[in-house]
Amino acid sequence: MILKATGKNIKLAADKIKNGDIVAFPTETVYGLGADGLNPIAVAKIFEAKNRPTFNPLIMHISSIDQLDNLVEINSSKIKKLIKNFWPGPLTLVLPKKYIVPDIVTAGHSTVAVRMPDHPVALKLIKESGSPIAAPSANTFGFLSPTSAKHVEKQLKGKVDYILDGGKSGVGVESTIIEVIGERVYLLRPGGIALEKIEVLVGDVEIKKADVTKPDSPGQLLHHYAPTVPIKFLNEVDSKELEGKRIGGLFFKENKSTIEFSFVKILSPAGNMREAAANLFHHLHDLEVLNLDLIIVEPIEETGLGIAIMDRLKRAANRYKNKN
Ligand code: TXA
Ligand code: MG
Repeated sequence: MILKATGKNIKLAADKIKNGDIVAFPTETVYGLGADGLNPIAVAKIFEAKNRPTFNPLIMHISSIDQLDNLVEINSSKIKKLIKNFWPGPLTLVLPKKYIVPDIVTAGHSTVAVRMPDHPVALKLIKESGSPIAAPSANTFGFLSPTSAKHVEKQLKGKVDYILDGGKSGVGVESTIIEVIGERVYLLRPGGIALEKIEVLVGDVEIKKADVTKPDSPGQLLHHYAPTVPIKFLNEVDSKELEGKRIGGLFFKENKSTIEFSFVKILSPAGNMREAAANLFHHLHDLEVLNLDLIIVEPIEETGLGIAIMDRLKRAANRYKNKN
């Protein structure tokens, strides 16, 4: 059931979390599917609802720095700088965990991912639940991430009782995930905070190469974030394969193609990368339900948030590579 995120409904949802149940809630990046992060049985319900094939580690969402001290050890000045500059916000930090964090949250890793979301509903829900909230994106494993309550309902209807509606997620792509080991800083997933902004603060960031068969992050899987309709980049399309098909187009600023589209969506008419990120999953969700045979997407420049956007699009397109 979708519930408007009023004070009363946030309290109802917090009671659910306290009771060991799951709740979908808005954050500034994408909607999350949350449970009491210190209750392993409650956390197991998240994996069940999402159909995650294995226990992949989840992000702990906190509403205060006191909560952070309970969960992790912080021994790096770079971490402190990142927290000071980017929290609350779309930055997740992978940190050495304390004993209190259940193994199911970290998938047995000795580290735990933590972030403080920049969304009043999420912060209030965490505070009223009295516990950090473990939450992945509130979608079925491998498919489009949700940026509205309706998107969550589309995929998880019947699997979660309450979906708190806090409107459209403003950032629109998941958080940037960073791990600091010694003096070295690693990027595990590009996301809502551009890499350049992080490098200004803490120096060079290395891209952590994923073992695709055993990724630290499902976001590192080659196929992920996919719409249920095949998706392809504009420069990889062969005009012959388009005959007689219903095609949707997704462009950055304007439709520059001569293809006959049934529907076209523009990520940002003003050519603004922030707006494009905020619209990415939103437009793909809209296109997904239009009975299309194919979605064609224009590749965009890989700078700033463009890196996170292209990361999602490439993984989505990979799902359908070599399949007709
Ligand atoms: O913006 C976001 O990060 C959203 C909202 C809901 O907060 N959450 C999200 O969660 O994207 P999820 O589960 O879809 O992605 C979390 C990523 C996963 O790829 C997971 O493997 C990685 O974080 N992760 C979690 N704990 C980790 C750890 N200890 N080491 C490495 N990666 C970790
Ligand atoms: Mg996800």
